[in-house]
Amino acid sequence: MSYFTHLECSVPCGAGAYDPRVPQHLCTCGAPLLARYDLKAARAWRRESLAGRAANMWRYRELMPLADGEEPLTLGEGWTPLIHAHRLGDELGMPRLFVKDESLNPTNSFKARGLAAAVTRAAHLGARTLSIPSAGNAANAMAAYAAAAGLEAKVFMPRDVKVPFIRECELYGADVTLVDGLITDAGRVAAEKGKPLGWYDVSTLKEPYRIEGKKTMAYEIGEQLGWNFPDWIVYPTGGGTGMVGMWKAFEELEQIGWKPTGTRPKMVTVQAEHCAPIVRAFEQGAERSEMWQNARTVADGLRVPKAIGDFLVLRAVRESGGAAIAVSDADMVRAMRELGAREGISAAPEGGAALHAVKVLLKDGRMKPTDTVVVFNTGGALKYLDVLNP
Ligand SMILES: Cc1ncc(COP(=O)(O)O)c(C=O)c1O
Repeated sequence: MSYFTHLECSVPCGAGAYDPRVPQHLCTCGAPLLARYDLKAARAWRRESLAGRAANMWRYRELMPLADGEEPLTLGEGWTPLIHAHRLGDELGMPRLFVKDESLNPTNSFKARGLAAAVTRAAHLGARTLSIPSAGNAANAMAAYAAAAGLEAKVFMPRDVKVPFIRECELYGADVTLVDGLITDAGRVAAEKGKPLGWYDVSTLKEPYRIEGKKTMAYEIGEQLGWNFPDWIVYPTGGGTGMVGMWKAFEELEQIGWKPTGTRPKMVTVQAEHCAPIVRAFEQGAERSEMWQNARTVADGLRVPKAIGDFLVLRAVRESGGAAIAVSDADMVRAMRELGAREGISAAPEGGAALHAVKVLLKDGRMKPTDTVVVFNTGGALKYLDVLNP
């Protein structure tokens, strides 16, 4: 059973509770909605009950958005390895450096978690056709889960998206539209086409359930470290659902008594040098980001010039005492090669960016060599092989 009760504005603007028994997207004020649980009652849930459960993200189903009798759609997402990166750690003088390797998810990225949750809910709520604007990985995940659910998938990606992302969507039977411009333009076209036809939009943070899938990354880190939490979580950020989801998860774990309060990791948001709207807003002390002009980077997932949940990411970074770091393409590809050559990890450039950010923080003294640090490798290298051309 799940303790899921209702949805509520993330601001919060005071709009009241939203009913999860019908499709919901944004709050009437335009902000993302968040799933809420009866956390008082959930204090009865014991960590010991996790022993022997399936090795996927639904092992935390008590705090997943499921109605009574609703069964999750799963391709085995989650429960990815937390690799103790000894060789890289030795080089950096960091004995407690870990890599959470999300490339081992279905469709090769952490996007599987969010889309498994979103498609589970969409199917339960009676959707027939799903649509998504994507930089690539989210489209692959949505297409796979839609196929598994027997739903139609419409994906909208920038025209210059790397070819493997297009072919994998087609493999799952999705209908692919390539759009001139960036993911924000793809989002506009998807909404224009889909709204009159009643398509169910699973854009980042425009529906409330992807975040619920992503938050399980934080539950897993806790469980994998014996319910101790790292000093730092370093995360490549585009739309920001990973950051927002994990911050929400820490709050929930504290409320149900699985984690002492006052011990949350410092959250580091990592962006690309030529598309760093959240880093810029963080440095300027702003509550929201401004649209980034001429966004470009080889890390397709980080090419998001303006995120709808930017204020939530900034809140998590600031409340945690974390940091916001911009990384050049050359540095992220170098770090991607290091993850490969030193640890045997197939990393996307986004994962490389996160590793490079650790070096920056270590060098300027914000991070101590003895700190426990979890770096997120959010996807695998294989769909990005062009960036590895000599
Ligand atoms: C590999 C990879 N890493 C990180 C991100 C950024 O994730 P988020 O949009 O949740 O911030 C993406 C998004 O497309 C991605 O594909």
